[in-house]
Amino acid sequence: MVNIAVLGYGTVGSGVVEVINTNHEIINKRAGEEINIKYVLDLRDFPGDPVQQILTHDFNDILNDDEVKVVVEVMGGINPAYTFVKQCLAAGKSVATSNKELVASHGPELLAIAKENNVNFLFEASVGGGIPIIRPLNTSITADEVTEITGILNGTTNYILTKMDQEGASYDEVLKQAQDLGYAERNPEADVEGGDACRKIAILTSIVYGKHLDYTKIHTEGITKISTEDFKYADALGVSIKLVGTTKKEGDTLYSFVAPMMLDENHPLSGIHDVFNGIFVHGNVVDDIMFYGRGAGKLPTASAVVSDVVDEVKHMGKNIMASWDAEALPIGDFRDAVN
Ligand code: HSE
Repeated sequence: MVNIAVLGYGTVGSGVVEVINTNHEIINKRAGEEINIKYVLDLRDFPGDPVQQILTHDFNDILNDDEVKVVVEVMGGINPAYTFVKQCLAAGKSVATSNKELVASHGPELLAIAKENNVNFLFEASVGGGIPIIRPLNTSITADEVTEITGILNGTTNYILTKMDQEGASYDEVLKQAQDLGYAERNPEADVEGGDACRKIAILTSIVYGKHLDYTKIHTEGITKISTEDFKYADALGVSIKLVGTTKKEGDTLYSFVAPMMLDENHPLSGIHDVFNGIFVHGNVVDDIMFYGRGAGKLPTASAVVSDVVDEVKHMGKNIMASWDAEALPIGDFRDAVN
């Protein structure tokens, strides 16, 4: 039996508990061991929920328990997640997280601490919700020079743009729906101003090119200036409006940006609607690859987190991390990018 702990019982944390309970037989079979949730950490109480029996308000209960081998961090935000994750890795516990802010800001440092302690820092759920993308980039698309990664990387904004386009709904009304559905960040500014997509394209680019792309260097525009009027023009032109994060390699230079773009109906991302995300990758020998699935939401994101836990339990003691060096990855001025 492998004991795990879950930090945070919000949308994703409760999803992780649900996925492990619902699919325990197939999960345990694939992991080769029984996965037991020994603790859930949250500041709140959940009377009437069976989770109350394994609930702790004290992180030290988890940190100091040598039986806990894997910690799931689904609290979001930098603090206290960063401190908790560092302490877990240093104590020889592997960590699986959905926290893109944490990975984009502190990825190389946390990966190095994990390596020193012979454990793994895994973050499949940090990009694309339920879409497997981190593991494929790390273990499958390894024979190619990747020349493009372009994605619809934020479910909330894709949901908003879809409803504005197809139903003529107002921005505020649809944002509220996305929040109620558990898609939006606690502070939805990260979604609608493009910051969330920016961190995600930074993570993907860093994995592919092996160096750290500082997300603050990526030109980022969100969707707050898009109006229903824009969709009328887009319809007349036969294009769709999508918030896209992209990195392209032109010669020896990488260009990266996040912005709303008009996509021709033949573009592989143009037909991706609602909360769905899509990630297009072009390699010089494999050619085009598309990844598609639910980019946000409780169970899809939890599915990706639990897949990391299964991978870790299956490979305990082996390095299975998608990683990159702390050295800065230079990018060109996005205005020079050629379409
Ligand atoms: N707020 C994010 C989104 C959650 O809408 O895509 C998943 O990372």
